Amino acid sequence: MDPAELEKVLKRDTGRKIKTIIPVHLAGQPSELGEIYALAEAHGALVVDDACHAIGARYRYDGREYSIGGSPHAAMTAFSFHPVKHVAMGEGGAVTTANPEYRAKLERYRCHGLQKEAFVNEEMALSPEGETNPWYYEMQQLGYNYRLTDIQAALGDSQLKRLGLSLKKRNELAEYYRQLIEENLPVGTVRPLVVRPDVLHAYHLQVVLIDFEKCGVSRAAVMNRLRREGIGTQVHYIPVPLQPYYRQRYGYKPGDFPEAESYYEKALSLPMYPELERSDCWKVVNELKKILES
Ligand SMILES: Cc1ncc(COP(=O)(O)O)c(C=O)c1O
Repeated sequence: MDPAELEKVLKRDTGRKIKTIIPVHLAGQPSELGEIYALAEAHGALVVDDACHAIGARYRYDGREYSIGGSPHAAMTAFSFHPVKHVAMGEGGAVTTANPEYRAKLERYRCHGLQKEAFVNEEMALSPEGETNPWYYEMQQLGYNYRLTDIQAALGDSQLKRLGLSLKKRNELAEYYRQLIEENLPVGTVRPLVVRPDVLHAYHLQVVLIDFEKCGVSRAAVMNRLRREGIGTQVHYIPVPLQPYYRQRYGYKPGDFPEAESYYEKALSLPMYPELERSDCWKVVNELKKILES
């Protein structure tokens, strides 16, 4: 999310107020949260950041360092513990917040909307002695069953202990990929995403941008040839507004989100996980070189 573009959107008068801004820390790089927060504040909007790629990531703003999920620049931060994520629990996720009101509301959403304080039906809540009945609870809002199982939580706890090591290894691998690409691939054909200074990137993904047109080969052909060499790649992501649901609901069409679309045309995610060896990175880049040069 580009703060300059966000500012333009916030200033546009559409007759509908923007209440929440949801930056995604794509691939694991913190977005410009301090700048986004300043704009949101001025507009009276909340920031809820999507940190599903960025657990453990850090950034600097105005001379201070902040952690994703523990920063004053977001009202709430969402994490995913899907099997492919840094901290995997099979499924599930978490929301962090420093705001007690949001916390209480989130807890109610998690468990069927139930609460054990601030009762409405006092005549049911209180015993003849004027104390809260020991069994009593209330449902004042609709909720869900969004609870993690204890087994998942135990798994997550053990995974969290390895997070620091995983981030270190991912950063080393990303730096090695960068070197290999620079030294071995024709200039300008393959570019890792730009990383801003002063961030600790979580490198959930190692995205490179490839000018497939210039290389005269389709992305599908590159992916299929890499797969035949035992190398799995993926595209993160197809622009959300181009999904049929959003096209139908909001009338979006190709061309409406030019930055996301031009990114999508070029994006390819190379293998990235802490157990990857440097020799694997070398093999990936070498195979890519063979394909792009053939
Ligand atoms: C950036 C981002 N946001 C949201 C999600 C959704 O997470 P979950 O599937 O755990 O709800 C994902 C999962 O892939 C993601 O990568």
